[in-house]
Formats: sequence, C-alpha cells, structure tokens
Amino acid sequence: MTRVSVLGMGLMGSAVAKAFIDAGHEVAVWNRTPARCVPLADAGARTVWSPSEAVAWGEVIVSVLSDYQVVEEVVTSLAPGVAATGSVFVNLTSGDADAAAAMRKAVAATDMAYLDGAVLSFPKDLGGTADILISGPEDVWDTYKSALIAMGSGTVHTGPVIHEANVIDTAVTGAFLCVSLGAFYEATAYAAHHGIPAHRLAGPAIRWLDLMRAEILQGVEQIDSGDYATDQATIDTYEAAMEMVTGAIQAAGRPASIISGFLTNLRAAQAAGHGDKSLAVTHEILGGKTS
Ligand SMILES: NC(=O)c1ccc[n+]([C@@H]2O[C@H](COP(=O)([O-])OP(=O)(O)OC[C@H]3O[C@@H](n4cnc5c(N)ncnc54)[C@H](OP(=O)(O)O)[C@@H]3O)[C@@H](O)[C@H]2O)c1
Repeated sequence: MTRVSVLGMGLMGSAVAKAFIDAGHEVAVWNRTPARCVPLADAGARTVWSPSEAVAWGEVIVSVLSDYQVVEEVVTSLAPGVAATGSVFVNLTSGDADAAAAMRKAVAATDMAYLDGAVLSFPKDLGGTADILISGPEDVWDTYKSALIAMGSGTVHTGPVIHEANVIDTAVTGAFLCVSLGAFYEATAYAAHHGIPAHRLAGPAIRWLDLMRAEILQGVEQIDSGDYATDQATIDTYEAAMEMVTGAIQAAGRPASIISGFLTNLRAAQAAGHGDKSLAVTHEILGGKTS
C-alpha cells in the first residue's frame, strides 16, 4: 500500500483518486475548490488543504490539473523542503514537449523525482482499461510502477525521454482522435440537412474503423520505407473526392472546416508532384521524414 496524494479533483483527477482508493492505496486529495473533494472523502480519501500538505504526506504525488501553468504555480508555491525523501511527482496534466521539460526542471528544485505522463482515456476508464503513458527515469518508474498501474491496465512506461508521453498524446489523442471525432459531427450535421438522422451514420462509420486500422498499419509501413506507391486511392483520387465533399457540405450551409483543412494538405501534395502517390505521402509534405 502506497500513500498517494492527488492534486486536482476535476473530472479526471477525481477518477484518478478513485482508482487509487479502489486499489487499496491510502489517498489524500487536494483541490483549489475544496467542495470537489467531498465525494472522494466519502469514498475513503483524506482531504488536505494545501499542495504543501499533500506533498508532505504522500510518497507518490499525482497532479491532474487543467494545464501546465497551473501545475507550475502549484509546484513553485510548495513550502521549501516539504517533500519526503524519495517521493515522486507524477504529472498527468496534458501538455506539449517543452512543458514536460520545463516541469522536470521546476520539480527538480523540490527534491522529488519526476515522471511526466498523459492520460489517453476518459475518466470512466480509470481503474479499468485506461491507457496512461508515463515518461522519465527507468529506476523511478520501476520503484513506483506497482502503485501507478492502479490507474489502468494500459499504464506503461514509454522510456526515459521526458516529453514522449506528451508528444504521443498530442499526436494521437489531439491531432488524430479528437479531430476524427470532430469530423464525425461535420458528417452528422451535413446528413441532417438532408433529413438523415445521426443514428443512421453510426453503423457505416463504425464499419470504416476496421478499414482505418489497416490503412494506418500500411501508412506507417510506407513512411518507414519511403515508398508511397499505391494501386488503390492516390492523392489525386482523394483531392477530387474531397473537393466534391467540401462543395456538398458547404452547399448544405455547413462550414466543412475540418475537411477544408484536409483538402489544403492534399493540394500541397499535388503541388509537390505527388498526385500519383498514396495518402501517406502527406506525412512528408507536412514536414515529417521517413525514418
Ligand atoms: N476529462 C477527460 O476526459 C480527460 C482525458 C484525458 C486527459 N485529460 C486531462 O486531464 C487534465 C484535467 O482535466 P479535467 O477533465 O479533470 O479538467 P477539469 O474537470 O476542468 O478540472 C480542472 C482541475 O484543475 C483545477 N484548476 C484549474 N485552474 C486552477 C488554478 N488556477 N489553481 C488551482 N487549480 C486549478 C480545477 O480546480 P477547481 O475545481 O478549483 O476549478 C480542477 O481540479 C487536463 O490536462 C486534461 O487535458 C482529461
């Protein structure tokens, strides 16, 4: 059993704290607005009244605050020498690569070890199948992994590079998943214009997910090899289709914002002479390189 202090009782922080409680750890919770600690106190957590108190009590300090600026304010507000020897600060707040490096520096001044993480799941998945990426020193991960795994069966160490969790999260959750879900609602709004309700799109959309799985695997193979030949859909094929789709959605009075951005990428690939290549070539057009 480990003493875990959780900073931030928002939607995700509350789920993180509950996962530790359910796994049998001793948990302390802190939140700027104390009322949000009440459900966790009812579930068995101890409420603490300041970040310094949370850090002084815990062996593992997990922060799940809204952004890195808030985490930095909290870390720099800690009373000097408050952290127990050997304790670790695990920051699960979402952020970018630079934020992770800056936070490692800020936490170093407190004598706590530092792990930077990202949650690639929703609060309901915490304590179950949640995917949580953790980056930082191997020995620190090894010391605390048996406690951290309580957050979800998909809690994994990405390696020692401190910004890896944030970069993977920004890329996959942010640039890929969130935008894909956003695009689904461009689709439902367009179909609604023609009297087709959203639930009629769910079946076909879900069937496309299997195709996406295969396309992603083939796409990363092409990026690795640098060979973007295709006998299926070319950049020219996609561009013609997306021009039609953008026009159809705009004619329905919808802005087609996400599809317009995709069309811009396709036209950049055409302008670079890649009209006969596969969609994966846009990786290079957007500044990526083959590995
Ligand atoms: N919710 C999700 O599905 C999800 C999924 C993956 C990752 N995440 C990440 O998890 C983090 C937390 O998200 P959330 O959904 O829990 O957000 P949330 O419900 O809005 O909670 C935000 C937390 O930050 C605290 N906070 C905000 N400004 C503060 C300040 N100036 N000083 C002290 N505390 C402050 C809030 O305290 P108060 O209660 O006092 O306002 C609250 O505890 C974010 O980085 C988010 O990207 C969330």
